[in-house]
Amino acid sequence: MIIVINGSQWGDEGKGKVVDLLADRFDIVGRFQGGHNAGHSVYVGDKAFVLRLLPSGIIHEGTVCVLGNGMVIDPKAFFEEVDQMIEQGISITPERLKVSSRAHLIMPYHRALDHTSEERLGNEKIGTTLRGIGPAYEDKAGRRGIRVADALVPEVLKSRIERNLEEANRIIVTYGQQPLYADQIFEEISALAERLRPFVTETSAFYAEAKRQKKNILLEGAQATLLDVDHGTYPFVTSSNATAGGASVGSGIPPHHITGVLGIVRTYATRVGEGPFPTEMLEEEEDMANLIRTRGNEFGSVTKRPRRCGWFDAVATRYSAELNGYDSLALTKIDVLDALDELKVCVGYMIRGERVDTFPAVSSDLRQIEPIYETLEGWKEDTLGITDIDELPAKARAYVDFLSESIGVEIGLISTGPERDQTIILKDSVMESWFTGNDQAAIDS
Ligand code: IMP
Repeated sequence: MIIVINGSQWGDEGKGKVVDLLADRFDIVGRFQGGHNAGHSVYVGDKAFVLRLLPSGIIHEGTVCVLGNGMVIDPKAFFEEVDQMIEQGISITPERLKVSSRAHLIMPYHRALDHTSEERLGNEKIGTTLRGIGPAYEDKAGRRGIRVADALVPEVLKSRIERNLEEANRIIVTYGQQPLYADQIFEEISALAERLRPFVTETSAFYAEAKRQKKNILLEGAQATLLDVDHGTYPFVTSSNATAGGASVGSGIPPHHITGVLGIVRTYATRVGEGPFPTEMLEEEEDMANLIRTRGNEFGSVTKRPRRCGWFDAVATRYSAELNGYDSLALTKIDVLDALDELKVCVGYMIRGERVDTFPAVSSDLRQIEPIYETLEGWKEDTLGITDIDELPAKARAYVDFLSESIGVEIGLISTGPERDQTIILKDSVMESWFTGNDQAAIDS
């Protein structure tokens, strides 16, 4: 079976834990877009792993991990993470980590350009992670990007750096920063490329062979649906396709070989960076936002920025469910809400006095949304660590059912804490079939 997993909101829904749980059942875990702007925290016993570029499957020794062609890879960040993992006792070898020859490289000038671009936008800035992600994708679309395979050929690497840096330096200098030097960049990147060489693979061919051998493949999205460059809250988005469709393009796996899509939804919403957030808890709900931020540890795992917090937005999540074709949902962080007296769920949008049924395309419309809320009672009981659905307080169960009905997709997994075993898997759900490996569609295909 080939399953795609992605976030349904603005990221940080808790994908890391779910991928980690599923990784046992999968032979291969691959990423297909984004770069080290992602940040997955995985807790195993007393160890905490923070993954940025590497798929969460890397923690499982038996899993092969793939960085797909749709990604942008900063080679320095890649080896920092690899070295960090090795230090934490994870074995990382070319046998279990494959990097696509077609992935694009993030170069030092991309990082500089991310800064200048944000500066130029001023009040309209995106609030990017400043990792050079956007500028690397701009070069890709502009057909001047440097791919992993190019970096392995010194003449090609050198001439591309020289050509691209001329233009990049013009912008960098205009913004009062020091110009970068082609020779220095060439030396740094060619040394890193040599170290990368053993990991470089024709990953689409690798996947095709794995599929012939009936291997199970998990494709792990980074960022999330509402940050997708096409379908998200443009222009306040990342620069890649984080939706399930991106999994096919960004891995080189034919779309009809994908057998299922798993969405991650968190019991409330957060957003980092700028951009519209219809259900955000603003000044009058600041105490609530603080409570959730503290209980849910809602600070960026990459940038440490405090995340903006808001109520569950069923309209936005239904939109995500349709775009991605979710077969089942994992609902995360229910325990964070244990302390709340009541919970609001956004079930509709009003814009300028009119009810809208679709997710607006224009960010100025998104900013004008007045959410229509339904209020549910809080359960005020401890749910941390519950593993059996029958032990969940009735009001918590009612909240889960309400979300599932308003999104229109089954909730097959409920996460009741950060640890692996703090999880409920619902019987007879599509999710359960993925955990047991009994996915009928996959068996038939
Ligand atoms: P970029 O991906 O660095 O270009 O940032 C674009 C937008 O996506 C900013 O609002 C970031 O905060 C957001 N973003 C990027 N990666 C993540 C993530 O992994 N989780 C949540 N937000 C993200």
